[in-house]
Amino acid sequence: MCMVIFAPLFAIFAFATCGGYTGQLMVSVDCVNRTDSNLSITVRFAYPFRLNQVTFTVPTCEGRQQEQLHLNGDFSSSAEFFVTIGVFAFLYSLFATVVYIFYQNKYRENNRGPFIDFIVTVVFSFMWLVGSSAWAKALSDVKLATDPGEVLLLMSACKVQTNKCGSVYGPVWSGLNTSVVFGYLNFILWAGNIWFVFKETGWHKGGAARYPTPAPEKQAAAFNQQPYNQPNYNQCTFGQTGASFGENGGFGQSDYSQVGTYTLSGPTSY
Ligand SMILES: *[C@@H]1O[C@H](CO)[C@@H](O)[C@H](O)[C@H]1NC(C)=O
Ligand SMILES: *[C@@H]1O[C@H](CO)[C@@H](O)[C@H](O)[C@H]1NC(C)=O
Repeated sequence: MCMVIFAPLFAIFAFATCGGYTGQLMVSVDCVNRTDSNLSITVRFAYPFRLNQVTFTVPTCEGRQQEQLHLNGDFSSSAEFFVTIGVFAFLYSLFATVVYIFYQNKYRENNRGPFIDFIVTVVFSFMWLVGSSAWAKALSDVKLATDPGEVLLLMSACKVQTNKCGSVYGPVWSGLNTSVVFGYLNFILWAGNIWFVFKETGWHKGGAARYPTPAPEKQAAAFNQQPYNQPNYNQCTFGQTGASFGENGGFGQSDYSQVGTYTLSGPTSY
C-alpha cells in the first residue's frame, strides 16, 4: 500500500465525473405550419444512463398533435459498475492508508495484512480494467444514442421532407471522457502497485536475501541493509523521501545502527 495520496484521489475523479453527470441536447422541429413548430426541444439525461426512460414530447406537425418519444438504450449496468468500483476503491484505499500508517504492526502480523492487501489490489486492478473498458464502450453508445442527429431520426415529423428539423446543440462530453481516462489511470495505478504490495508480502524474500546487496539506485546503503521485515517506507511514492531520511540519520539509521557497520554515509553510527 503505497499509493497513499493518488489512489483515493484518482478514484474520486473517476466515480464523481461519471456519477455526477447530467447532459442535455436541443433540437428544433420547424413545421410547414409554423404554429405547430417547436424550435427548442430539450432532452435531458443523467447518470445512470437509462436512456430508454428518458422521454420528451415533440410536435408531429399534424395540427396541434404531439408525440411522446424516448431515447434508446439502457447503459446503467456499465455505468453503475464503474461507479461502484470507484467508490469501493476509494473506501479501500483510505482504509488501507490508515491501517498502513497507524497500524503497521498489526498489518505485518503473520503477514496477513500484506497478503490480503495483495489479493485485494490484484482484484481491484482487474476490476478497474474491466469496469473502464465496459464503461468506455457504454459511453460511445451513449454518445451515439444522444446525438441530436440520431434523436431527429426518431421523430415522425422529420420523416416528412417539407418540415425542417435541425440540431441546436449536443451534450458536453468532457466530464465523461475524463471519467474514462481516470478509469484507466486507476487501472495503471493499481496494477503498478501490485509489485509493491507483492514485495510487502515477503514472498520474494527467500530468493532476494541470498543475493549480495546490489545497492541499487541512489538510496543510501544504510537503508538497503535494513531487515526486510521492518517497515519499509522508502517504496513507491516515498522513494526519495525515504532515501533522504536515511542519509540524514534522523529516521532509519538510529533504529538500525546495528547493521550500520556497512554504511557509506553515516558518521553518526561510529
Ligand atoms: C417545446 O418543447 C419543450 C420541451 O422539450 C417544452 O418545454 C416547450 O414548452 C415546447 N414548446 C412549445 C411551443 O410547444
Ligand atoms: C396551422 O395550424 C393551426 C392550428 O394548429 C390551424 O388553425 C391552421 O389552419 C393551420 N394552417 C394551415 C395552413 O394548415
